Amino acid sequence: MSTLTAQVPLTDAELKLLQTLIYQECGMYFDERRTHFLRDRLQRRLKACNLESFYSYYRLLTSREGKQELHLLLENLTVNETSFYRVRPQLDLFQRRILETLLHKKQDRRDWTLRIWSAGCSTGQEPYSLAMLVCDALAYYYLRNPLPFDMPVPKPLVPPPWKVEIVASDINYSALLTAGQGIYNEIQMEPVDYATRLRYFDKAADKYAVKATLKSLIQFDFHNLKTEFLPQRNDVIFCRNVMIYFDEAEQKRLVDKFYRCLNPEGYLFVGHAESLFGLTKKFHMIHENNATVYQRVEEAQ
Ligand SMILES: C[S@@+](CC[C@H](N)C(=O)[O-])C[C@H]1O[C@@H](n2cnc3c(N)ncnc32)[C@H](O)[C@@H]1O
Repeated sequence: MSTLTAQVPLTDAELKLLQTLIYQECGMYFDERRTHFLRDRLQRRLKACNLESFYSYYRLLTSREGKQELHLLLENLTVNETSFYRVRPQLDLFQRRILETLLHKKQDRRDWTLRIWSAGCSTGQEPYSLAMLVCDALAYYYLRNPLPFDMPVPKPLVPPPWKVEIVASDINYSALLTAGQGIYNEIQMEPVDYATRLRYFDKAADKYAVKATLKSLIQFDFHNLKTEFLPQRNDVIFCRNVMIYFDEAEQKRLVDKFYRCLNPEGYLFVGHAESLFGLTKKFHMIHENNATVYQRVEEAQ
């Protein structure tokens, strides 16, 4: 018996309408190399909605009743690939150079809040990696620069008076749900060494659950990077492997928004294969040990 199901024809005009709608909603742009993927996902959603033409599907998506379906479609179009400690040289640069600089500068100013945003956090491995790196960096910092008072017992992950706020956001609700649960299997845990597992995870049957103390540093939130209502006052933004799905105009708009979402002299990390080259003059590039970070340039400089 054939497993092939009949495909509903998708005309060029219908494809264009749907492509434009998706672009307007979330910034994702499907060029010729990715239309095959788009067509496949559209066919699946059309079938799930039991509709007979893509024009009626478009009408549904643009109607008030179609909001839920629009979210489902966008979720089906996002690529959620991620991992713990993804691209280690970038994270080393973050931990050894950027965090160290921030901690010193902030301590001098008696500003004890460190705020980091993982924009496009997928299933959470990135913000949890960042939280672990920050906690380790703070512990190491205070090993070398002891606090002027006794550390409370048991030692908190974030030594007072520091306050660490990590915002982790995504457009994909189900990815965010997984991120908020913080439960990972052995394969996902592969990049996490045993000492780190012992410090930050509990074993739950054959899986690993992020400890509540680490989780409490992270606030998971829905944010569509296409909108203007984005987390403000960040010291560092990580937006890795997200812009790659946007066209140049949308990338430029996004980088401008990131500029406004950062504190003065704040830092932006983009994916290893992404770059701000040609997109902006408002950041300057720091490249060290095979890793790049962009720092906000201040107008008076
Ligand atoms: C490939 S994952 C990257 C995850 C993580 N940053 C990393 O590098 O491992 C891309 C993520 O960007 C999210 N995304 C795509 N478009 C978005 C948008 N307009 N607003 C917010 N998140 C978006 C996707 O849902 C997906 O989870």
